Amino acid sequence: MSNKKIVVGNWKMNPATADEAKRIARKTRRAALALMHTEAVVCPPFPFISAASSRNKSPHYHLGAQTASFEVGGAHTGEVAANVLKDLGVEYVIVGHSETRRGESSIGDTDEMVSKRAKAVLESGMKVVLCVGEKIRDESGAHFEFVKEQMSKSLADVPKSRSGDVILAYEPIWAIGAQEAMKPEDINEMTIFVKKIFSDIFGAESAQKVQVLYGGSVNFRNAADIMKIGQVDGLLVGRESVNMAGFVELLKAVDEVK
Ligand code: PGA
Repeated sequence: MSNKKIVVGNWKMNPATADEAKRIARKTRRAALALMHTEAVVCPPFPFISAASSRNKSPHYHLGAQTASFEVGGAHTGEVAANVLKDLGVEYVIVGHSETRRGESSIGDTDEMVSKRAKAVLESGMKVVLCVGEKIRDESGAHFEFVKEQMSKSLADVPKSRSGDVILAYEPIWAIGAQEAMKPEDINEMTIFVKKIFSDIFGAESAQKVQVLYGGSVNFRNAADIMKIGQVDGLLVGRESVNMAGFVELLKAVDEVK
């Protein structure tokens, strides 16, 4: 685990109003003021990004987005370009979240599209939070091969020189929006595994520096154990990131992990 810890709040399609978005952002910003070793990132839906931004520089509080187009501009209805996000003060962009990837249906991103998004985000001068994770796992261990292939395809367009701006978020799909998170011991195994794959792609030096996050049913109660036993550098948090009492506690708990 590195000294620099990071908690990324993925608001998904919440909240319902701009006023509520402002309130959540204000509380998160206030909680972030007290952090010593942790950076908090909020990723609101696009229309709330400005509402969540702070005019003054706010220590340990950063703006993120949930995806970005790989196109630079022009005739792409419904898309938002990475450079527009950058202009709004966004520093981190989630790419390849399972809810935006192609699954059972033909809608959503392929690995190739995820890779193009990652490249566009990096070229605009922001950091990528790349999500990977298997849909199911069983005794056969096929999930290792799945995650390996997903990582190498999703990073295909990322040049080694920019690998320092990639953060890996391991999120097993079966643990997202679930009752319980993955067991911290199993998270530790995957932390080591994804670092190894990153090393195979970009070299050992890059792998030593890369931050690995865990996501999937993280809350203020399980956060510290996941950090400590899972040996992750941070967390990608869904539901708990818009539950203010819980998220404030979670940030505190992560910051206190040695
Ligand atoms: P969850 O979502 O924390 O609500 O399980 C995590 C995510 O999808 O990033």
